[in-house]
Amino acid sequence: MSLDAVQANISLHHLEIKSSDPKMLAEFYSKVMNMNIKRLTNQKFLCEGPGRKIIITTGKNKTLGYVGMVCKNEENLERYKEFLKTNKCEINGFVSEFYQSGSFALQDPDKNMICFGVLKKENNFLTKGIYAPLQHLTFASKDVEKFQNFFQKKLGFQVTDRVVKSTGELATCFTTSNHEHHTIACFKSSQNGMDHHSYEAGEWNNIKIWCDHFAKNNVKLMWGPGRHGPGNNLFVFIEDIDGNWIEISAELETVIGRPPKNWPQEEKTLNLWGKAIMRS
Ligand SMILES: [Fe+2]
Repeated sequence: MSLDAVQANISLHHLEIKSSDPKMLAEFYSKVMNMNIKRLTNQKFLCEGPGRKIIITTGKNKTLGYVGMVCKNEENLERYKEFLKTNKCEINGFVSEFYQSGSFALQDPDKNMICFGVLKKENNFLTKGIYAPLQHLTFASKDVEKFQNFFQKKLGFQVTDRVVKSTGELATCFTTSNHEHHTIACFKSSQNGMDHHSYEAGEWNNIKIWCDHFAKNNVKLMWGPGRHGPGNNLFVFIEDIDGNWIEISAELETVIGRPPKNWPQEEKTLNLWGKAIMRS
């Protein structure tokens, strides 16, 4: 029997991000995001810390190579693949440093590559470093309705919350593939791409540790501290040297089978505590 994404219990594991200077960006992540660097090829670097792995490779700044999602075991992956085939998703084989054989990839309507696989046995995370596993990715898109349809109906993600403009148009859609409030979300924007990626530090005190670490590295917060309405998570945001937005989050809501809620597009929805960065 097939499984949808939530039943298959899929989570975000790693990202491939492109940069015109991948070495310099990898050095930023190493220092500021407290990660080790491993050179995979001349122009490809793996940055890793506790619960987080980012591949940085050569390409246009602020573009995504792919999103690396993982299933806990091969049976779930196979049954999820059946679900995608029933929904007539176009699936292609995919090989990476992290996945066992049998991993695959597909493209969303904005041509973002989403990959699914089971980790190789030797693929453990480092334990040394400040805690904050990679947890969600948020796209920017000209068409959030299309994102919602694709992730909900084709990929079997659960819509947990939406932000709706006064015109009725979707400003944001939050979807999940497990018990976390969102694993992939999408903000309405004038262009397609990435909005931000987020690391879940778990507790408020860990956000303090991160902020002190950023200060030591002369990196200013660009937004926060605050608390989002949807997801109810505490947050701070910084920007990397290419202009990618990075979120450190804590207390993200756990969602098990509750119906989605619509939120008005207003400052308080984006930040219950203060100023918002309104995307559109
Ligand atoms: Fe976020």
